[in-house]
Amino acid sequence: MRVDFDPADMPRNDFYKLLTATVVPRPIAWVSTVSEDGTANLAPHSFFSIASVTPPVVQFSSVGRKDTLRNIEATGEFVVNFTPEELFEQINDTATDFPHGVSEFEAAAIESEPSLRVKPLRVAASPVALECELHSTLRIGDGTVVFGRVVHAVVSEEVMVDGHPEISKLRPLSRLGKNEWGTVSGVRELARIRHDDWRGPAADR
Ligand SMILES: Cc1cc2nc3c(=O)[nH]c(=O)nc-3n(C[C@H](O)[C@H](O)[C@H](O)COP(=O)(O)O)c2cc1C
Repeated sequence: MRVDFDPADMPRNDFYKLLTATVVPRPIAWVSTVSEDGTANLAPHSFFSIASVTPPVVQFSSVGRKDTLRNIEATGEFVVNFTPEELFEQINDTATDFPHGVSEFEAAAIESEPSLRVKPLRVAASPVALECELHSTLRIGDGTVVFGRVVHAVVSEEVMVDGHPEISKLRPLSRLGKNEWGTVSGVRELARIRHDDWRGPAADR
């Protein structure tokens, strides 16, 4: 038995809860920006992914018009900071709806550092930062998808093994449904199969 859900017959919030509980786990972009008057801003966004490899473009969605989106539209720049497990509560603190003009860096006591290629600050304790220039935005319903061209990436040496970021050291947080957050508790490896090596469906091998 399966249960059917028709978004047209459901309150917006109920379908939102279904979507966010089933599109899981979602990586979290901890997006730092700066307003035109110089106030630093920081907020987590889990509607986040890679849009293109060449050029390198990442994307996240702002549902509604928030400071993050306004700042990016005004300045054309943002940084995606990685969200490691140890910063769990600090990340959530920055999702608080502080009034415009309040910096989450200050309110949540998050240490910052300058970026190399863009004006928004990086989170000093985050092991990875992707510095982005605004590529474009796309409005869809109540959301705005923000595409950012990555112009610089920085990774802490401590999370790298043989020059490559290592999942057991990165320890990423993800967003699940409701108020749930995920951690990586198991990693399995499986290489993609080239057609020349195909030996039939998994169930038959
Ligand atoms: C883990 C997590 C993920 C979130 N993901 C999103 C998201 O993808 N899009 C969004 O608009 N808001 C998201 N939010 C809510 C924003 O972080 C929140 O509205 C924040 O106050 C926006 O800050 P700003 O106004 O400074 O941009 C998320 C919150 C949390 C805790």
